[in-house]
Amino acid sequence: MPAYSEKVMDHFMNPRNVGEIPDADGMGSVGNPVCGDMMAFYIKVDDGRLSDVKFKTFGCGAAIAVSSMVSEMAKGKTLEEAKGITNADVAEGLDGLPKNKLHCSNLGADALHKAIEDYESRTQEA
Ligand code: FES
Repeated sequence: MPAYSEKVMDHFMNPRNVGEIPDADGMGSVGNPVCGDMMAFYIKVDDGRLSDVKFKTFGCGAAIAVSSMVSEMAKGKTLEEAKGITNADVAEGLDGLPKNKLHCSNLGADALHKAIEDYESRTQEA
């Protein structure tokens, strides 16, 4: 078994912000081409800030820990700040991931960014 950092184990055992936001302002989902796992992010936006972030992840433990970390990093941030969160930031926030699990960290920020794009396309139409 690969060695996971304590932070990864903590976020995997006690993931923050799991769930859906039924009246979300934006939603984004991505599938991992490497393993087929899926991740979806839901966001609420107030005054240009992410007032709420929730996720559902159908994937491995590392992917769940990554989603949880992304949700914590993004909450309360402005849209611009949240767009600046990279997959590498997330892996770093978790004190690293085992090499063979790095692909699992590639979804988190991407799914969040997609949710923000979804929000922006909705507000542009309005
Ligand atoms: Fe699929 Fe980790 S094995 S996201």
